[in-house]
Amino acid sequence: MRPGFSAAQVVSVGLAIAHLPFVNALAPRTEIADSYDFVIVGGGQAGLVIGGRLSQALKNHTVLVLEAGGNGDAYRERIDTPAYSYFDSLWTTPLNWAYYTVPQPNAADREIEWPRGKVLGGSSAINGLYLTRPGEIEINAWRDLLGDMDGAENWEWDSFFAAMKKSENFTAPSSDVAKTGDIEWDASDHGTQGPIHASYPGYMFEQVGQWVQSLANVGVAISNQMYNGEPWGAGVSTSTINPTNWTRSYSRTGYLDPLPDLGNYDVLANAQVTRLIFDTSNKNNLTATGVEYTPDGGNTTKTVKVNKEVILSAGAVGSPAILMHSGVGPKDVLSSAGVDLLSELPGVGQHLQDHFSVTVTWDTNQETSGSIYYDNGSQKNDTLYLSYIDDGVAYVNSTGLYGTNVSSTQQSILAAMDQYAPNTTYDQGVVAGYKAIYNSTATKIFTSPIGQVEILFMNSDANGDIGITAALQHPYSHGRIYINSSNPMDYPIIDPNYFANPSDWDILLHGVKLARLVGEADPLKSTLTNETSPGAAVQSDDDLLQWIREAAGTEFHPSSSCAMLPRDQGGVVDANLRVYGLANVRVADSSVPPTALSTHLMASTYGVAELAAEIISKFYNPSTATAPLLSSSTNATKTANSTASASSSKKTNGSNTNGTPSSLHIFTSLLFVVAVMFSSL
Ligand SMILES: Cc1cc2nc3c(=O)[nH]c(=O)nc-3n(C[C@H](O)[C@H](O)[C@H](O)COP(=O)(O)OP(=O)(O)OC[C@H]3O[C@@H](n4cnc5c(N)ncnc54)[C@H](O)[C@@H]3O)c2cc1C
Ligand SMILES: *[C@@H]1O[C@H](CO)[C@@H](O)[C@H](O)[C@H]1NC(C)=O
Ligand SMILES: *[C@@H]1O[C@H](CO)[C@@H](O)[C@H](O)[C@H]1NC(C)=O
Ligand SMILES: *[C@@H]1O[C@H](CO)[C@@H](O)[C@H](O)[C@H]1NC(C)=O
Ligand SMILES: *[C@@H]1O[C@H](CO)[C@@H](O)[C@H](O)[C@H]1NC(C)=O
Ligand SMILES: *[C@@H]1O[C@H](CO)[C@@H](O)[C@H](O)[C@H]1NC(C)=O
Ligand SMILES: *[C@@H]1O[C@H](CO)[C@@H](O)[C@H](O)[C@H]1NC(C)=O
Ligand SMILES: *[C@@H]1O[C@H](CO)[C@@H](O)[C@H](O)[C@H]1NC(C)=O
Ligand SMILES: *[C@@H]1O[C@H](CO)[C@@H](O)[C@H](O)[C@H]1NC(C)=O
Ligand SMILES: *[C@@H]1O[C@H](CO)[C@@H](O)[C@H](O)[C@H]1NC(C)=O
Ligand SMILES: *[C@@H]1O[C@H](CO)[C@@H](O)[C@H](O)[C@H]1NC(C)=O
Ligand SMILES: *[C@@H]1O[C@H](CO)[C@@H](O)[C@H](O)[C@H]1NC(C)=O
Ligand SMILES: *[C@@H]1O[C@H](CO)[C@@H](O)[C@H](O)[C@H]1NC(C)=O
Repeated sequence: MRPGFSAAQVVSVGLAIAHLPFVNALAPRTEIADSYDFVIVGGGQAGLVIGGRLSQALKNHTVLVLEAGGNGDAYRERIDTPAYSYFDSLWTTPLNWAYYTVPQPNAADREIEWPRGKVLGGSSAINGLYLTRPGEIEINAWRDLLGDMDGAENWEWDSFFAAMKKSENFTAPSSDVAKTGDIEWDASDHGTQGPIHASYPGYMFEQVGQWVQSLANVGVAISNQMYNGEPWGAGVSTSTINPTNWTRSYSRTGYLDPLPDLGNYDVLANAQVTRLIFDTSNKNNLTATGVEYTPDGGNTTKTVKVNKEVILSAGAVGSPAILMHSGVGPKDVLSSAGVDLLSELPGVGQHLQDHFSVTVTWDTNQETSGSIYYDNGSQKNDTLYLSYIDDGVAYVNSTGLYGTNVSSTQQSILAAMDQYAPNTTYDQGVVAGYKAIYNSTATKIFTSPIGQVEILFMNSDANGDIGITAALQHPYSHGRIYINSSNPMDYPIIDPNYFANPSDWDILLHGVKLARLVGEADPLKSTLTNETSPGAAVQSDDDLLQWIREAAGTEFHPSSSCAMLPRDQGGVVDANLRVYGLANVRVADSSVPPTALSTHLMASTYGVAELAAEIISKFYNPSTATAPLLSSSTNATKTANSTASASSSKKTNGSNTNGTPSSLHIFTSLLFVVAVMFSSL
């Protein structure tokens, strides 16, 4: 029995949901108890990992997840079907927060759309399914920023690598798909016991293989080692696809739906947290005693009591915003928003970094995923075709962009550091943190083999064209999230500060030129008939840059807005994810890595969440810290061993380990084709 429930309540919840599809023991609740040991704010990608793991590892504790969005069941076909991430995007639905940035002065004064998932599973339910990993050099640079902080060793590569592997279950592509896409992999770099499927589509286009070859022909080597800490070179990435039925695998399907119900875990959807409530008797160490939320868009609020801890997993926009609405943040921001300052923490919302990206497009003489869909090709309703998702990636290092000028470029980046320090803070600690991140990026990452831009192959555009995207991976312009209202229902202000620092546009400009070269290289060249954007007329650096300013958008990878750094460097959390100045609040999501990472952010966010669950479990009960996820009675040590053991089969290009796909029901009545080009990365 769940604490606080009467038998009648539990039965009625069961009856109410019994007729719905996808029902399971942990179907999102409509009623909750008065208090919980752990309250997790945000049932997104990270939040459902932490909720699932804590409820299984700490069986004598109660766990609640509060999610602002709905359970998503009415949109399940659109969430589940990989290709619909482009063709029937959830951007147009209430499952997207649909944020916009403030006008970006260095990007043609545009307000740039920032989608974020608002549903159980969060952004992992609406994203583009790319599953790529950061590199050892970047993760160790993060650890180094922590100095000798207690817990710093959690964030070094070996630990982070193990956490990412723990979350995944790798399946190799079919031999046909591997051959067509020229896919290489090394199974020993992957986990096989985790809840999130890492696999490949069941359908592949020849142009993907040609794209990989074209990269090789412009000097970006093909690699099958991108998952072992060396994420550079060109290849076909894994995607979060369940290969048994070609559905999206995300934090809800992996960490919530299959859980055994131990009676200690509730997940409440349609519950937007408005603020944390504190016992302020110790001014330097506030204790969260409750979490206030609204079930009805702000009309009324309710409060659930917290016995042990609050874990904020509301994402890179939501987590800093909630802290500020709770009175924790920069004093100038809170004062002008009209929120009482309870605990001054000037770094909240600062250090924001995002991947800015832009796409060169060509007409093609080939059938594309987009042309099949939009021209009603015969495969349009096929499950295998609908499992296709763009997955060609390449990460290009500074030599690939700057040739012999790497060192002089590094010097000019370092010389610009002071000039572009944030002027949006009164706190010299925040500036010190900016410099620490900047210096680390310029000295440890820029001159390393880590990709400074990502190059992506896009085959799913609405008008059947081909896109090659270039995306800046390690921005030197840092922005911020802040609030300008005391009403938590008002959206926070998002200022990524794109291109403030010329180093960033220079790197992306070099990336765009490389993207063009790839499209002009054999063998891709013969299939791309005409560059449609920016087009042949745009050639000079000035013209290209102007086009980039007008056309670039987010790659959807904001991070670092609750940065893990020393407190005197504008840090928000320490190496155990605890918020400075608060006795029992942690943040664990994409907002905590202090630097941008050269990767799409899902794998690293699973890594953060898995480590968070281990840190918290160990704190409350050392002996069950690594309890298995999917069993109510199994043994911790057993799983610890099996999660660490990856498949040992090496480089198996061409082998087929796939089963036959079971049929996936596509509700075509739901097809509302949005003829807009979405680049769902
Ligand atoms: C369109 C798009 C495409 C992307 N493509 C890829 C990709 O292909 N590959 C990849 O690796 N990454 C991709 N990303 C990035 C990746 O999905 C995110 O970085 C990652 O999922 C973030 O995880 P998170 O747990 O930090 O936040 P989220 O998953 O966004 O979860 C935050 C959750 O908190 C909830 N929340 C927020 N505020 C409140 C509140 N006040 N009260 C209660 N709940 C709240 C939100 O509704 C949400 O469910 C993409 C992202 C987007 C948006
Ligand atoms: C839960 O169990 C652990 C290990 O037996 C114990 O240390 C802890 O005190 C228990 N916690 C609660 C809330 O009962
Ligand atoms: C991993 O995925 C395969 C499908 O490729 C599935 O058969 C297997 O059960 C999964 N393993 C786990 C531990 O979920
Ligand atoms: C896909 O398979 C998983 C098991 O691997 C199952 O839980 C899920 O319900 C299936 N999805 C659909 C839409 O059939
Ligand atoms: C909030 O209250 C207004 C006014 O009473 C009502 O119109 C609206 O439907 C309510 N919103 C929700 C989500 O209940
Ligand atoms: C796809 O299914 C829809 C609805 O069943 C149907 O109208 C359409 O003709 C089908 N398209 C193709 C190409 O089979
Ligand atoms: C902060 O710096 C930006 C340029 O980076 C400038 O446009 C802005 O006016 C400055 N703001 C203040 C308050 O100095
Ligand atoms: C910058 O980082 C390098 C190491 O990467 C270090 O030697 C140097 O002292 C740092 N400089 C500053 C100003 O922090
Ligand atoms: C970039 O990659 C190339 C090819 O592997 C390599 O020769 C070069 O040294 C790398 N550059 C850096 C800065 O590591
Ligand atoms: C190539 O694309 C450009 C931009 O869309 C267009 O103006 C031009 O007519 C196209 N050329 C050909 C030969 O199709
Ligand atoms: C704050 O309180 C918590 C819980 O009582 C305690 O563990 C922690 O050490 C305190 N932190 C500081 C900085 O005093
Ligand atoms: C769990 O592990 C312990 C010690 O390693 C062992 O004695 C016990 O039998 C195991 N329990 C189960 C259910 O496997
Ligand atoms: C872990 O598993 C491997 C093989 O699966 C086995 O050889 C090893 O003895 C196990 N280690 C422990 C500590 O059980």
